[in-house]
Amino acid sequence: MGESLTMKILREHLMSATETMKPGEEILVKIDHTLTQDATGTMAYLQFEAMGIGQVKTRVSVSYVDHNTLQTGYENMDDHVFLQTFAQKHGVYFSRPGNGICHQVHLERFSEPGYILLGSDSHTPTSGGAGMLAIGAGGLDVAVAMAGGPFGMPMPKIVGVKLTGKRQPWVAAKDVILEMLRRLSVKGGVGNIFEYHGDGINDLTVPERATICNMGAELGATTSVFPSDGITQAFLKKQGRENAWRELLPDADATYDELIEIDLSTLEPMIAQPHMPDNVTTVRSLAGLKLDQVCIGSCTNSSFHDLAIAGHVLKGKRVAPNVSMTLTPGSRQVFATIARDGILADIISAGARILEAACGPCIGMGQAPRSGGISLRSFNRNFEGRSGTPDAKVYLCSPETAAVSALTGVLTDPRDFGEYVAQKEPERYNVDDEGMILPPAENPESIEVVRGPNIKPLPQRGPLEEEIAGKVLLKVGDNITTDHIMPAGSKILPLRSNIPAISEFVFVRIDPQFPARAKANGGGIIIAGSNYGQGSSREHAALAPMYLGVKAIIAKSFARIHRANLINFGILPLIFSNEGDYDSLNPDDELIIKDVRTQLEKGSTIQIETKAGKALTVSCEVSPRQRDIIFSGGLLNHVKNGVSNGSQ
Ligand code: F3S
Repeated sequence: MGESLTMKILREHLMSATETMKPGEEILVKIDHTLTQDATGTMAYLQFEAMGIGQVKTRVSVSYVDHNTLQTGYENMDDHVFLQTFAQKHGVYFSRPGNGICHQVHLERFSEPGYILLGSDSHTPTSGGAGMLAIGAGGLDVAVAMAGGPFGMPMPKIVGVKLTGKRQPWVAAKDVILEMLRRLSVKGGVGNIFEYHGDGINDLTVPERATICNMGAELGATTSVFPSDGITQAFLKKQGRENAWRELLPDADATYDELIEIDLSTLEPMIAQPHMPDNVTTVRSLAGLKLDQVCIGSCTNSSFHDLAIAGHVLKGKRVAPNVSMTLTPGSRQVFATIARDGILADIISAGARILEAACGPCIGMGQAPRSGGISLRSFNRNFEGRSGTPDAKVYLCSPETAAVSALTGVLTDPRDFGEYVAQKEPERYNVDDEGMILPPAENPESIEVVRGPNIKPLPQRGPLEEEIAGKVLLKVGDNITTDHIMPAGSKILPLRSNIPAISEFVFVRIDPQFPARAKANGGGIIIAGSNYGQGSSREHAALAPMYLGVKAIIAKSFARIHRANLINFGILPLIFSNEGDYDSLNPDDELIIKDVRTQLEKGSTIQIETKAGKALTVSCEVSPRQRDIIFSGGLLNHVKNGVSNGSQ
């Protein structure tokens, strides 16, 4: 029986030859590349330092600064200088602020087909567009990988996505992934790797494939991947990195655990409505919606092609007076290439605003829409409040739809714009890094890591107690995102390396009293619905609650990365055995988990009592390694204790 591409890459990276690779069973893989961004990187590097390892053990590790590039106080710059000096000292490349969004830059400058990338950002799968197995994880997992440790994950189900046919004019790669979200929902990819194949992949360039892989994160997937073929080779050649190419295809008779088929020729422009990326319908069905803002950019859609098509649409025309339009190049390379090729001038002349090559509005760093405003974005997430305006309504679409709509001032199906002129990738991108990617120092011993006052020591938790007792501090519903738990935005992001300060914002959008109540009660327990913790990989959504004393989350289900982060910080991720028990628990109920260590040693079933005398059963499905991590009070203690961490 033929093997999928995913299976081939995973098999090459298994840390133990005895692993059976049965879906759901934990596998440990060796990591080749790591990436961090500044909002997750400071913690990851503090954790790496705490392990007492000198130089990173990975083939390539890169520290990017893309989230917090606004400098309204000293905090961000303190972080940047810490990150730069840490990188130089410990063998990490440093991508300077302004060089671009981590995923776009990694795709361009570092991606290597067939290798595994672990990144402390949920959109790390973007490099799957170049045949990498690229996985998002918490910063602590990334720190362990940099130290040469394995990455543990449940063996994913490998889902083949067979693309056939050829897209109609004005139908974009974004519409392919929006169609996937329409079909499968934000929970539909949990535990899966999506492997794209079929003749239809020949209709997609590497940056377009990367758009699809990027937003596979919104399906909850472990990652998504495309084969490394002639199209990949051509892309790497334009990057001046042809040597990085190797052919990597699934076997012709490859089998998959599940198969999905999309006929590209039947797709039409799609749009995700507020406030979830899976709330998808056709652009045609909402055409005429009046807009206040249009933003093109983010790690999903900021490649050369995305800006070139916008430039083509805008050329010789004007942005509608009711619309504020922004464009963000995904990288300095894209910026330099569109400037070189005259596209930038067309965009500027149309009245669009050009932003720095960084995350910017995607993470609420500037360009918040007006109160109650309608914002049309080529981004990947439209969670409530993420834009920085609590009552704004954010819609997600392709750059094609966004650019055409910016001209008309209302949501417009791009097929109504006129003839489609395919935008060719240039013969060669502007590949001079111009000093914006700093290599590790040749004499690392001479480098001093600079720590400004915003760099606070890591908070730690002790080993798991024998008994957990605490109040229900908060009860929340389904699909709670990491943005709900630990919001981002220009006031909060600069505190990412200062846990005591940032913990004051935990759940602030849902219940501003939460941090004070958690502290007053000496911590406690949170009750949640299904898909708790979806969205980003930010480990602060586990670390800051841990700092406030949260000991367990009881939910109907968890999102993958967040669940792993909870374990990494010693918080018990518990699942209701009977979902009906969710309704019977209320804030302020007092819960007791007796002999929790003994119960966990015996198996996954855990008995909980309420002070009022009710008993309920929950499960804690963890591998033996994860159970040891929880016993130690988190992954860092586990590694420092020298307890088995795979091959370490
Ligand atoms: Fe940045 Fe938004 Fe992507 S915050 S990494 S552009 S999802």
